[in-house]
Amino acid sequence: MKGVRHLSDSGITRLPDSYVLPAHDRPAAGGLVASTGRVKLPVIDLATLHDPSRRAAALETLDAACRSYGFFQYRSIHILQVVNHGVDGDVIGGMLDVARRFFELPLAERARYMSSDVRAAVRYGTSFNQAKDAVLCWRDFLKLVCHEPLQEAWPQEPADLRDVASTFAAATHGLFMEIMEAALQALHLGGGGNGGILEELAVGSSHMMTINCYPACPQPELTLGMPPHSDYGLFSLVLQDHVEGLQVMHDARWLTVDPIPGSFVVNVGDHLEIYSNGRYKSVLHRVRVNSTRPRISVASFHSLPAERVVGPATELLVAGGEPPRYMDTDFATFLAYLASADGKDKTFLQSRMLQQPL
Ligand code: OGA
Ligand code: NI
Repeated sequence: MKGVRHLSDSGITRLPDSYVLPAHDRPAAGGLVASTGRVKLPVIDLATLHDPSRRAAALETLDAACRSYGFFQYRSIHILQVVNHGVDGDVIGGMLDVARRFFELPLAERARYMSSDVRAAVRYGTSFNQAKDAVLCWRDFLKLVCHEPLQEAWPQEPADLRDVASTFAAATHGLFMEIMEAALQALHLGGGGNGGILEELAVGSSHMMTINCYPACPQPELTLGMPPHSDYGLFSLVLQDHVEGLQVMHDARWLTVDPIPGSFVVNVGDHLEIYSNGRYKSVLHRVRVNSTRPRISVASFHSLPAERVVGPATELLVAGGEPPRYMDTDFATFLAYLASADGKDKTFLQSRMLQQPL
């Protein structure tokens, strides 16, 4: 499996059959999701979160973006854009640049990091869930575990990758913690208190970085860079270059996210949906590719440590007297699920639901 960068570099003009989606899964498929459009995501300016006189308003924006309103869940989009986030422009530019240079390395150099072990500290691969995909996706990726001092295992080429990626990882983790703290406050879940989830996260967390490479594709209307899916953790922070491609499902339509250079797209993951007992919803998203412009994105997935069981917050269940709407979930359950299914759509989360959510 040599991946799509290799195919693109070889100059193919027709999409190989193994990448051709059935008609109803193609990006412009008809039916319920026929119409598409563009969207400007709700924007959180981090400076307003830091300003005591404006924090309440920023929390309100965050809450309105993420909260689910029962049958009217499409009122909120469950994804936001964070600007003025304090991560240095050089760190962001450097990360995208080293990502690009990694995928320009000879295939033999990249292939040294290929692994089918989903727990590997570094893993190079292609498609979405390579072992299970019936149709392949137009994506190559490099996955780095960031929560342990495993940089020794990270690629040695490009020579500055370890430095740049670890600086970027530290910065995104800091940003995640700020957004998580804000979300807990907006949810009225006293996450900051003694023994709270925020304190747990400060002591140890799971942090994976995926560098995605979507080369120019000869027939982009027949395939996808990533199929519809939700992310596994609490929040994902996505840095994209200037090329659009990320789409989110909103009100039964696929909306293309306008890239704002230097900003982070922040989306609610399955763990936050579970932890908030359905108040916040993980967002269904996918990636489209195009025929002329290669695209790079760097997605950071943040959650509790893998061995930690995640369930609805006890303060909702005990003090709030709510029934749990999701089963307790751990990483091993997720891996077992991935080994048995392709992991698309929100099927993993649905498999953890106990009853209809809010
Ligand atoms: C992901 C993802 C979006 C993008 O890596 O899970 O959804 O724009 N990435 O690459
Ligand atoms: Ni994703």
